[in-house]
Amino acid sequence: MGEQTRETFGSRIGFIFAAAGSAIGLGNVWRFPYLVGAHGGAAFVIVYLIMVFIIGIVCFVAEVSLGRHTRQSNVGAFKAIKPSWGPAGLIGITAGFMILSFYSVIGGWSIYYFFKAFAGFPAADPVVCNEMFNAFVTSSAAPIFFHALFMLATIYIVYSGVQSGIERYSNIMMPALFVLIVILAIRSMTLPGAGAGIEFLIKPDFSQITGEVLLAALGQVFFTLSLGMGSILTYGSYLGQDESIPNVSTIVPLMDTLIAFLAGLVIFPAVFAYGFEPGQGVGLVFVTLPAIFSEMPAGNLFGAAFFFFIILAALTSAISLLEPPTAYMMEEHGWERRKASVVIGIVIFIVGVFASLSMGVLSDFTIGGMVIFDLLDYLSGNWLLPISGLVTAIFVAWVWGTDNALQEATNDGTIEFAWGSLWANVLIKYVAPILITVVFLSSIGVIKVGV
Ligand code: PFF
Repeated sequence: MGEQTRETFGSRIGFIFAAAGSAIGLGNVWRFPYLVGAHGGAAFVIVYLIMVFIIGIVCFVAEVSLGRHTRQSNVGAFKAIKPSWGPAGLIGITAGFMILSFYSVIGGWSIYYFFKAFAGFPAADPVVCNEMFNAFVTSSAAPIFFHALFMLATIYIVYSGVQSGIERYSNIMMPALFVLIVILAIRSMTLPGAGAGIEFLIKPDFSQITGEVLLAALGQVFFTLSLGMGSILTYGSYLGQDESIPNVSTIVPLMDTLIAFLAGLVIFPAVFAYGFEPGQGVGLVFVTLPAIFSEMPAGNLFGAAFFFFIILAALTSAISLLEPPTAYMMEEHGWERRKASVVIGIVIFIVGVFASLSMGVLSDFTIGGMVIFDLLDYLSGNWLLPISGLVTAIFVAWVWGTDNALQEATNDGTIEFAWGSLWANVLIKYVAPILITVVFLSSIGVIKVGV
């Protein structure tokens, strides 16, 4: 349907920045460091790196190939290969919808923290910073206001289209983000006593590797590379016909990994230099770091730069979450881009309002023991994402067929794909589906993985 008016990225670098923008987000700056901290440092980093190679890049190639071949987003892509598989694409669309509804709430927190950082955080005491964090997220109006701002920006960019929205703003935001994180990492690594933090990140203690660590690493690979939700598939559908899929599918995950590592180099040297605990969990970025910034010389500037970095990272991911449902409504229901982005954006905003309120006034309303915010996170992360990732891997390998997929990935055999036969015969066919199944079954408690 959208065939004749199909938008595309204007350049290869446009795709790379947009896809890297999708991948690089809260998952790198907030989730990766806290997982590293909670799972013993460098050992987790190594497991994670291995998973990026054997699963992450493998599924990335599959999604981009499927998207570009069919020139359709999620549902349409499945349907174009095999009509009866259309509904499979809806799993990813639903997951993206749910993720964006709470992701944008956290995006809103980052905007608030950006202003707070400028004003200076209250004290070098994590207890005080924790109280500040709790008081803010459990209140009603302020987090919703910032959530609305964040969603407005997201909707505006997607509304503006692939080239004049997504590509244009990614091309501005991504370089800014690289510059910021490098400056911040240098600042953190030159603090007196930073060495212990660097060591924590690069010197592995293999006794720390347990079944739980493996699972956390694999879940993180999916989340951080934006796999399983149609974001990469949809961006792939806008990729130029002459571009090298193996090439872009390696560059983007490597950029993502580099940024996660740099985020670790911002956070851990500072955590160690100021004598904090690395294993703080989810509060690392919103509680521990503010305490550190309040103590650091010119901490308000570095703090503001850090939260500005988070806003940019979250925004480029948020647009990639809004794009697949928008493209779906355009392709399958004939809506215009403007109408689709605004209507879906508003619905996501409204769900997000409930997610935000569930931290405070709605905290007594639980389903299965979880407040709305946690429920959205749990259902999308533990159920929809792995199921959709699995379905996509199986679909590409067994329904579309690896010969066809390879044909697309190599531009009809005209470009080099050095590990193409390993990818086709082993990794996408067996390794990816089996490992994803194991993670899924254990994350819902059906099996227990031990090392
Ligand atoms: N990859 C993003 C991050 O690491 O924060 C999150 C994300 C974006 C997940 C887009 C999924 C997605 F489709």
